[in-house]
Amino acid sequence: MSVANHAMTQRARVAVLISGRGSNMTALVEAAKAPDCPYEVVLVLSNKPDAEGLRLAAAAGVPTLAIDHRPFGADREAHERALDAALREAGAEYVALAGYMRVLTAFLVQAWAGRMVNIHPSLLPRYPGLDTHRRAIEAGDAEAGCSVHLVTAGVDEGPILDQARVPVQAGDTPETLSARVLAAEHTLYPAALARLVKR
Ligand code: GAR
Repeated sequence: MSVANHAMTQRARVAVLISGRGSNMTALVEAAKAPDCPYEVVLVLSNKPDAEGLRLAAAAGVPTLAIDHRPFGADREAHERALDAALREAGAEYVALAGYMRVLTAFLVQAWAGRMVNIHPSLLPRYPGLDTHRRAIEAGDAEAGCSVHLVTAGVDEGPILDQARVPVQAGDTPETLSARVLAAEHTLYPAALARLVKR
């Protein structure tokens, strides 16, 4: 085995869970192209078969899979057992949620405890849940941002690994603020994930 191949086999195997656009997933995949990146993306998995991010991942040469949640109806854990099987089949060691818009059950959270991270578009513990940018503007916050945290049972409640801050500017709408925060997410997430897999 060459030195380069040997280095590749040492990289942490990360699966990325998405539900939509996939811009954070793309940032993770792009960062993994650096020779010194300590992780590789081995699977992009979506609960939505029509997620734009699946097309982007496939175009980037990353294995993709959709496991639609709808056939599972109200049995959220059964859907997660199917996700978990796919993650293990791919040999994933870490899971990065990147715009995965379903609340997880205790099953998946416990199965990946300490090895599952999420990015959230607010300065947690402020504004867990949805509509973070509108809430930050309405509160008159001078700063907004994003957080990468370990996933625990409470939604958006796990230990924070890192945050990035951006200013809220006069005249910001949820859309303009969202764009500024999203750019920060794309830098923060690969860096925070790299630090996690190295520790
Ligand atoms: C991102 O802003 C991410 O932080 C947010 O969804 C967006 C997904 O965009 N996640 C959450 O709100 C999770 N609670 P993307 O698909 O382009 O990465």
